[in-house]
Amino acid sequence: MNIVVVIPTYNEAENVARLIPVLEEEFAQHSNHTFNVLFVDGNSSDKTSEIIKAAETTNPNVFLLQEEKKSGLGSAYIKAFKYALQKFQPDVLVEMDADLQHDPKDVVRLVNEIENGSDYVIGSRFTKGGSIPQNWALYRKFLSVGGNIFTRVVLNIYNIHDFTSGFKASRVKGFVDQINLDQVLSGGFAYKIDLLFRMRKLGAKFKEVPIVFGLRDRGDSKMEKNNVLDSLKVVLLIRFRESQSFLKFLVVGFTGLFVDAATFNISRTVLANSTTASMFSGTLGILTTFILNNYWSFNHKKIHGFSKKLTSFIKYFVTSLIPILVRTKLISWAVFKLGDTFIISNAAFFIGIVFGLVWNYTIYSKIIWRSGSPQNPAAKKL
Ligand code: GDD
Ligand code: MN
Repeated sequence: MNIVVVIPTYNEAENVARLIPVLEEEFAQHSNHTFNVLFVDGNSSDKTSEIIKAAETTNPNVFLLQEEKKSGLGSAYIKAFKYALQKFQPDVLVEMDADLQHDPKDVVRLVNEIENGSDYVIGSRFTKGGSIPQNWALYRKFLSVGGNIFTRVVLNIYNIHDFTSGFKASRVKGFVDQINLDQVLSGGFAYKIDLLFRMRKLGAKFKEVPIVFGLRDRGDSKMEKNNVLDSLKVVLLIRFRESQSFLKFLVVGFTGLFVDAATFNISRTVLANSTTASMFSGTLGILTTFILNNYWSFNHKKIHGFSKKLTSFIKYFVTSLIPILVRTKLISWAVFKLGDTFIISNAAFFIGIVFGLVWNYTIYSKIIWRSGSPQNPAAKKL
């Protein structure tokens, strides 16, 4: 696979000088992959960029992206991601610190999990076998552990233990290349939480690989006090964004149901035939939810272009039509057996709706969109 290891630096002269040879040695042992290293330097005031530039001339796989000024970890990564995607067309992007707190030997462990089918691999400090430095100050331990617990609860994600790890591997095709990097929240350390959430929404298969997070023995940590507040803000903003789309999802569902039920009852009296009425109202319901989803709830994912719209509508229509057909069959059987009355036809109608709900939920969340997120455009029709 084609891998780009992105490493942000800010005053890491001593560390990059040690890191580059260790990484190269590691890469040489895994020649089944192509490795490039892209440093993104926040205009360090020490010799960091000189050292990287020197390495650029001797090592063909080392590259430097120089920022004009320090812009924060998140914004450095976003710049580097865009640059790397365009320049290298990689299969995998790795995020890694420059200060050797991340063991260079672990890069291959993360990448191998992508090769084995995961899409987002986290070098995790809080899963069995992982750790943070024992002699970290108590407040730093508390922030790290507490922050992760807070994020788990607020975002309601319980199968991930390390949301802020700085050591990751992400699959590009279908995932990183689907994310609008300009919209990622936070230019600071908290960008990690939003990026993770966006990968999850895309249905990425996650994997946590335990890592021992070492001690920084040279240079200083750039973790700033406002990172805590910033992370808190990002977690709450994501929660808000999600609740909003969940609310919209519910409104769309109920509107669809209302249109379906009202049309069913009006047309069954007009047409005097519950079977035809069910087909007619079901189709109208599908149409309503598709339009509402496309133009309102999932506006940011709006499908453009006539032929794309048509194909996605056909897919949506065909999958949604199945429970409508089943329901219609049930109604026609019930009214044939028990008479075409308001009570009978509506009872069958609502049993059909419950079936449709289970059907759609299963198809959309378990099969089409594995993540099961309510923001998925098709997790719709009741
Ligand atoms: N270009 C650039 N710009 N690089 C930066 C900036 C910046 O504004 N801020 C930090 N870096 C670089 C550092 O030079 C280092 O290589 C890496 O980003 C991580 O910064 P550290 O200062 O070493 O962070 P840390 O060890 O305290 O924090 C670790 O834990 C966090 C979560 O607890 C890192 O792994 C973080 O990535 C992680 O989020
Ligand atoms: Mn560090």
